[in-house]
Amino acid sequence: MTTESLVNTQFKSDKENFYMRHHAIQSLATAAEKREHYKQRVLGPATLWDRLMSLKDVNDESDADLEGMTQLGHALQTANAIANDGQDEDWIIIGLIHDLGKIMQAAGEKPEFVVGDVYPVGCQFGRKIVYYAYLQANPDWNHPVYSTKYGIYEPECGLMNVIMSFGHDEYIYQIFKDKLPYELLWMVRHHSFQSVADDYVHLMTKEDKELRESHMRKFMAYDLYTKDKYNAGGHKLKYYEEIVKRRFPEPIEW
Ligand SMILES: [Fe+2]
Ligand SMILES: [Fe+2]
Repeated sequence: MTTESLVNTQFKSDKENFYMRHHAIQSLATAAEKREHYKQRVLGPATLWDRLMSLKDVNDESDADLEGMTQLGHALQTANAIANDGQDEDWIIIGLIHDLGKIMQAAGEKPEFVVGDVYPVGCQFGRKIVYYAYLQANPDWNHPVYSTKYGIYEPECGLMNVIMSFGHDEYIYQIFKDKLPYELLWMVRHHSFQSVADDYVHLMTKEDKELRESHMRKFMAYDLYTKDKYNAGGHKLKYYEEIVKRRFPEPIEW
């Protein structure tokens, strides 16, 4: 697979317009509703490998750094960095699947409920949230409970008990939650949260803080700083195909 075949030269991202729409629609009510909807596995059965390959037709409008690189190319960039760093097979699988929730977009879901950074809903919005000012259009902006520091949560309740704005992180966590080690699942569930995590330390447990250091920061280096086109080659594709088909040979409900 050539690098050129992994790039959609027609695609243009529009990050600001995307977050304007995202912040107006992602409330506690809508995020919880989407979470419940996709828990029903509404996309139906397919093998993991087929789902991965379908990412060749998906681009992420919230990500200007990819410059037209498809989500299949980005999955390979991330997995290549992980493999080159000598990480084990579970990590390589995480690299391949971390953005696979973006298949929701190909199935007709609004990008506002699929891509972009995530943050807790049901409590005060953190000032580090990208395009923070657009949150004034959010239904929860002036809510008497949801606009307070803790909102519906208890101090140090733990990120695994927080409802995040809905997106591909939560989707893929739900699909794989019994299939991979807990620490890696924690990481994939929060991989779009890192940029605002400092605003929500009061909701984190000791475990969250430890996993943030030991896993999330490491993963960010593989996910965010590998978007160079030359890193996207499919030269390890056969190797990944062998791993994925051996570990997940049967169709999965998506
Ligand atoms: Fe992502
Ligand atoms: Fe990613």
